[in-house]
Amino acid sequence: MSDGLLVTGGLGFVGSHFVWAAHEAGARVVVLDDRSGGEAAPLPDGVRVVTGDIGAAALVSALVRDERLGAMVHFAGKIQVGESVRAPRLYFDHNVARGLRLLDAALDAGVSRVVFSSTAAVYGTPEIVPIPESSVREPVNPYGASKLAFERVLSAYGDAYGLRWAAPRYFNAAGAHPRGHLVERHEPETHLIPLVLDAALGRRPALRVFGDDYPTPDGTCVRDYVHVCDLADAHLAALDALTRGAVGALNLGTGRGASVREVIDAAARALGRAVPFERAPRRDGDPAALVADASRAGALLGWRARRSELEVIVEDARRSRG
Ligand code: UFG
Repeated sequence: MSDGLLVTGGLGFVGSHFVWAAHEAGARVVVLDDRSGGEAAPLPDGVRVVTGDIGAAALVSALVRDERLGAMVHFAGKIQVGESVRAPRLYFDHNVARGLRLLDAALDAGVSRVVFSSTAAVYGTPEIVPIPESSVREPVNPYGASKLAFERVLSAYGDAYGLRWAAPRYFNAAGAHPRGHLVERHEPETHLIPLVLDAALGRRPALRVFGDDYPTPDGTCVRDYVHVCDLADAHLAALDALTRGAVGALNLGTGRGASVREVIDAAARALGRAVPFERAPRRDGDPAALVADASRAGALLGWRARRSELEVIVEDARRSRG
């Protein structure tokens, strides 16, 4: 079996950063993406991109067999918390039902290692911060519930069929490739750092700060922002670790939190101009603080975030936005 790699969602934000990193590391990559994420990220020459649905079992098995793919990195999925509350059907369909068809077809055709994009949203409102992987998993929205359901499938397949899997749980993916050719863009954009930068550049109205009365040092929510290039490296390390044995769930973060106000201040410094913002009510479902205990990823993969200082994240994100 060759070590060709099937990457679903490789045209998206985290997926495209991974594809560049994998290509540069010498991996043979085939991307499967339904192009639903808006403007596709530019990928390296030589990477085959197949437009299609992850749930199209016949397409997946033909791809895996024809291209002799031995491992899969599964990024494709629905990722908006608010939308998941309004349309849970969409989330369980994409993230669980279609994901299962993809997984079964890939395994039957010869894939034996899987890395699956999971999320800190599996923890819901955490009891302990920084959060270890062993924390209670009580998602508070269908998005988190759908990701946790798929993790459980992987775990059961690992026990029963010997599938080797890893589920990196991302905290707040941010930044962009330092070369500036890959940009974080979602439609609609809901993520803090792109919104802060666009507000500062006059491309959007003032940033609305969702709540300033949380039990945090400055009253605004604290998150663990981790550079997307660090995430890409962790996936490569996870694939490598899977050749030696099981990995399981892994938190990917820095272990340090930054508040919304700190992000605003970092952006103002990076841009040399003020970020217009206004106070707004809390957003439903936002926990006060989400910070990773990422020691397991350190111990198992030798991974740590290297590019995730807030200043670097904001500077790289700004460069990519032109
Ligand atoms: N925020 C604002 N104003 C905005 C947008 C965001 O104040 O206009 C605040 C949010 O309230 C939050 C912080 O900025 O406190 C970060 O918000 P993001 O929307 O950028 O990110 P989240 O922490 O909500 O979400 C991230 C991922 C999700 C994942 C979640 C895990 O984007 O996919 O972490 O809980 F589910």
